[in-house]
Amino acid sequence: FFRQRIAEKLCSRLQQSEDAITPALSAVPVFRKQQSADFKLSIGLLRARGVLPSSGDIQQQTEHLASQLKPDRVVEDVSAGSGVINFKVHRKLLVQKMLEPFGKGQDEMFGLNSDLFSSLNRGTTLVEYSSPNIAKKFHAGHLRSTVIGNFIANLKQSLGNKVIRMNYLGDWGMQFGLLGAGFGQFGCQEELKQNPLQHLFEVYVKANQEAESSGGLAQAAREFFRRLEQREQEALALWQQFREITVTEYQRVYERLGVHFDVYSGESSHQDGVQEVLQQLEGRGLLKTSERGTGVVDLSPDGDMSSVCTVLRSDGTSLYITRDLAAAIDRMERYSFDEMIYVTDKSQSNHFRQLFQLLPTLGHSWADRCRHVPFGLVRGMKTRSGDVVFLEDVLDEARARMLRNMEQSKTTKQMENPEETAEKVGIAALIIQDFKGPLLSDYTFDWDRVLQAQGDTGVFLQYTHARLCSLVRRSGAAEVRDFEPSLLLDPTGVAVLQHLLRYDELLYQSAQDLQPKHLVGFLLKLSHLIASAHRELPVKGSSQEVAQARLRLFGAARSVLASGMSILGIAPVERM
Ligand code: ARG
Repeated sequence: FFRQRIAEKLCSRLQQSEDAITPALSAVPVFRKQQSADFKLSIGLLRARGVLPSSGDIQQQTEHLASQLKPDRVVEDVSAGSGVINFKVHRKLLVQKMLEPFGKGQDEMFGLNSDLFSSLNRGTTLVEYSSPNIAKKFHAGHLRSTVIGNFIANLKQSLGNKVIRMNYLGDWGMQFGLLGAGFGQFGCQEELKQNPLQHLFEVYVKANQEAESSGGLAQAAREFFRRLEQREQEALALWQQFREITVTEYQRVYERLGVHFDVYSGESSHQDGVQEVLQQLEGRGLLKTSERGTGVVDLSPDGDMSSVCTVLRSDGTSLYITRDLAAAIDRMERYSFDEMIYVTDKSQSNHFRQLFQLLPTLGHSWADRCRHVPFGLVRGMKTRSGDVVFLEDVLDEARARMLRNMEQSKTTKQMENPEETAEKVGIAALIIQDFKGPLLSDYTFDWDRVLQAQGDTGVFLQYTHARLCSLVRRSGAAEVRDFEPSLLLDPTGVAVLQHLLRYDELLYQSAQDLQPKHLVGFLLKLSHLIASAHRELPVKGSSQEVAQARLRLFGAARSVLASGMSILGIAPVERM
């Protein structure tokens, strides 16, 4: 609203269209009392865009333009800075405009009203994330993929896209030969039902060891996998059982994490597609046989085989990339996505680069709609039982540690279900720790640091949210009544509102680079501003009008905080 009004003001003065001017106009939040600019107009950018002549002294030009712009109902003050013009928005109007949507039952819509969003291309976004391998470790990298993918899917959805959440299981390959053959020797149906993930993992580890020491099991494993590839009923039934049990188990744990999937696909789903891809490569003369007898495609720019991608083993079985090729094509046919996002650690960057290079050679020009979001490694994530093998152990550990930290506090003793709160707070802590830096950075995991209540942690966000809820609860104000904007002009309150004002822009920005750190930074800053407002703008002991107005402010802050936390994948707690 404010940006548009200021842009209109400038348009009529400069006789230019809004498109030319808006990019030069950026919002500056007021954090400190002495700062007075709410919006800055960059004269350099206007010059670069040809809106203003580029000749002459830039400072003179700035001051001249500033002197021509008079304050009005929207803008309280216009002043020239160095190469910029500062606009200060009318405080009372700011308060009124900002708080208008809240209390009209539009809280949930907040973040979607901005004009910014009309320029967004909405469509179908497929996000593929988590994607663990059956019977293998669920390591820290899978946890990262799970929470990052969930964030991206939430963000895309909040911006009005149709989102398909997909889990692409590692459910095919030689490991199933080992698992199938090994199960005959070390497996137990009873155990499998009691403790599926653990048991499959144990069988797999034992089978691996055995196969290394004696040739017998290795031979049996190859044989079992061959039977699977030929779709022999008995072998397939066992594989099916392993897969189903695993998915059910994962679903239960994902639920604790607040994550769900619309589709569980997997590497096994694309056997026919793989054959078709190979035939097409062959038909286009792209499939070459290497010296080692493998099937390769030349990806070098000069066609000199200096860079090749292997798509077929010498024994005729397919590879990870071949299955990904078939999977991508199948997804396009099924969902006609406008965008597809793969979330894995950065060690797979080259794999996806090759994938996005191979697709167009098969005539799939939509490859440019695919995007890999890589992330860095986490070192040292351990639980009581050692290195992370199961997702559930991480969640248990976070809950237990958090519960221990909470036990001291009075409010915990009054809670009906402290475990549930501890779990939500613990998960928030894990997520914030993971999202604070650029996704590509590696980091070292440390439980004590993650679960700290002070400082910029997930615990602090949860605490702020719970405190705002308790404020509303104690005031007994069930419905938000009318309020007087002029009672909210204290700088601390205005600083909160100014910050809330940036939420739309922030979501928009985040959707470009898909980095959660912007939103994390925004929410942490918001929580600090709320803490100051708590100190300086008490509700208890104030006159009724003032209390009403302040509650409205705190209510709006809570609503944005909750919305942002939910997008990050955190369930906000009401008591803590
Ligand atoms: N299952 C793989 C792994 O654990 C990740 C799958 C990533 N997605 C893909 N389409 N290749 O490394």
